[in-house]
Amino acid sequence: MKILIVIIIILALAVGLFIIFMNSGIYNVAATSEHGALTLKIIEVTKDNSIRKHAAGIEVPELTDSAMIAEGFAHFDEMCVICHGAAGIGKDAFAIGLYPEAPSLAEEGDEWTAPELFWITKHGIKLTGMPAIGDVHSDEEIWPIIAFLQVLPEMTYQEYMSMRQTGEQESAEPEEENSEDHGSHTH
Ligand code: HEC
Repeated sequence: MKILIVIIIILALAVGLFIIFMNSGIYNVAATSEHGALTLKIIEVTKDNSIRKHAAGIEVPELTDSAMIAEGFAHFDEMCVICHGAAGIGKDAFAIGLYPEAPSLAEEGDEWTAPELFWITKHGIKLTGMPAIGDVHSDEEIWPIIAFLQVLPEMTYQEYMSMRQTGEQESAEPEEENSEDHGSHTH
């Protein structure tokens, strides 16, 4: 009985000290103040296991179609390269100051399976700069990005730039047709 009371007092003291710590402002939330080794380990283990568990059971569609890869490239080039960089392309200046930093997906992307990449891209990662794009993009729009991530590690700077050029040419053409279409409909 005595032991139980002692344990309760110790726990209450620990909670009390933690509340004082939280309110004191001592903890530095700056992105420039890096986590200690223990905190990093706790975050890494929790994150890796969470992603694996939540991605389990996601069914992967066929990801090798070249039109699908090209579509994924367009999304990646618009929404991901700014933070992650790719094939010799640097990230945007603002993304250099992110903590945790956004890893190169060409180098670290193959640590994850396709379902895991899909889950991360759709849901984002809490308390990091990694956004959830699933709020405004359907699964059918996200899978092409995952298809593109499968070929990204093998890609050279030249190949990346030539996909960008092809995309720009293609998007320039239909836009003109569309505006003509709209014109003829409204008349
Ligand atoms: C605003 C910056 C930002 C944008 C835009 C962004 N990400 Fe991220 N992403 C991050 C950060 C920061 C992390 C690291 C999170 C961490 O360490 O837990 C990350 C992590 C990831 C990871 C996990 C990689 C790993 O090994 O930890 C994947 C996969 C990923 N992002 C895919 C994407 C895709 C695909 C897009 C585009 C749809 C995208 N990200 C757009 C910031 C961004």
